Parts: sequence; structure tokens; C-alpha cells
Amino acid sequence: MARRLVAGNWKMHGLGADLAEVAAVAAAPAAGCEVLLCLPATLLHRGAALAQGRIALGGQDCHRAGQGAHTGDISAAMLADAGATHVILGHSERRADHAETDAMVAAKAQAAQGAGLVAVVCLGETLGDRDAGRTLEVVAAQLAGSVPEGVDLARLVLAYEPVWAIGTGRTPTEAQIAEVHGALRAGLAARFGAAAADVPLLYGGSVKPGNAAAIFAVPDVDGALVGGASLKAAEFLAIVGALAGR
Ligand code: PGA
Repeated sequence: MARRLVAGNWKMHGLGADLAEVAAVAAAPAAGCEVLLCLPATLLHRGAALAQGRIALGGQDCHRAGQGAHTGDISAAMLADAGATHVILGHSERRADHAETDAMVAAKAQAAQGAGLVAVVCLGETLGDRDAGRTLEVVAAQLAGSVPEGVDLARLVLAYEPVWAIGTGRTPTEAQIAEVHGALRAGLAARFGAAAADVPLLYGGSVKPGNAAAIFAVPDVDGALVGGASLKAAEFLAIVGALAGR
């Protein structure tokens, strides 16, 4: 059985004043699932002091190298040092804004796990892919390319995030989510064997308190990666409650 997880992705949002939201999430006990907030790197250290291990914290990207002459980049060890236990990798916004390829994401995942972090690897089709009937082909290729050989399955989470559902208020149908999650589960099992059943598969893209319960009822959905609705504790906790109470 895969662990169940609700992960928030603050993206490029959040100043010191917003740490009150982290404190509020950490103060609410969530039985039955893990809770993760992926903060801007600038807030991790202060966030960790507030969270005190009651929720997990993560970064949103890391460099593939352990250290070096890479101005402006952050290594996985730096994230861990600041209090992160997880890192989001290969989010579609990074694939689009920073031309990240599957191979780059795989190298980052290797670096993240090498520093002891859980790699939350994101994949998902564009609207063009879906309209062309290429969704399963695209996510299978991303899965093959973005998850490195020798990956530690115990420190891997996959997030299926259709690009067209992110920040748009549009979500796939439950049948569409089930189809992709089933394919991801089968793809993992074909490559890694029975242990792949333990890898949490998150759905992401316009998850809100109003649709979370229906999404969590879809087979092979073990939780969510939440963007906009993770910025306010009350909204995020309502989503956590929908999974914890399932
Ligand atoms: P959203 O973002 O919930 O705002 O659609 C999800 C994500 O990009 O992780």
C-alpha cells in the first residue's frame, strides 16, 4: 500500500508574514496521511523552526550537482540543511520556463535522493497531447526518462499533473485520472516490480476543497499536489481532511 500524502506547492509565493500559514497547517493534526509543504527556499529554515517536524517541508527544485560554480542554484544538500525532507522535481513550470528535459529531471532526482531527500517527480501532458490522443504515450515517456535507474522507490513520489489543469480551474474527469494513474502504476511495476505498489501517486492540477474528495476516491490516487489552494491553511487543511477522512 502506498503512503498517502497531501503536498502543497507554494511556487513563487510567500514572504515571512506568510509563515503563519505554515504554523497553522503544522498545528492541525492530520491522522491518516502525510502532509508536506514545498516552500520557496527562502522560507524553509524559518518554516522548519515552526513546523517542528509535525509536517514535512520540501523545496521546489534542486541542482543536479552536489556543489559548484552554479550561481543562483540550490543543491539538494542545501535544501536538506535548511530543513527540507522532500523536493519537487520536473514540475511543468520548470520544464517550460527552464527547458528542463526528462534527463535533467532524472539527474536531479538522483542528486536529491543522494542527499537523503524524497524526490517528488512531476509529469503530465499538454492539452495538445491530450487532444491528439497521446496522453498515455507522453506520460510513459516522461516516466521512463525522469525516473533514474537505481532509484530508491522508498524515497520516490510521482505527481501526475496535466499541464492544462494547472491553475486553470479545469480538471480531468475521474475516468481520465484513473486511466493515467493506472498506467503509471503498471509502468512502475513493469520496470521495478512489486515494490512499485508502494510509490505514492499524487494527482495535481486545480485540486480544491470542493473536488478533493472525488479525486481521492479515484483508484490509484494516493493524494494530491496542490498549488493555489495550498497558500491558505484553511483551504489546504480542508483538502488534507478529505484525504485523511477517506
Ligand atoms: P494548482 O497547481 O493547484 O494551482 O492548479 C498545482 C501545481 O502546479 O502543482
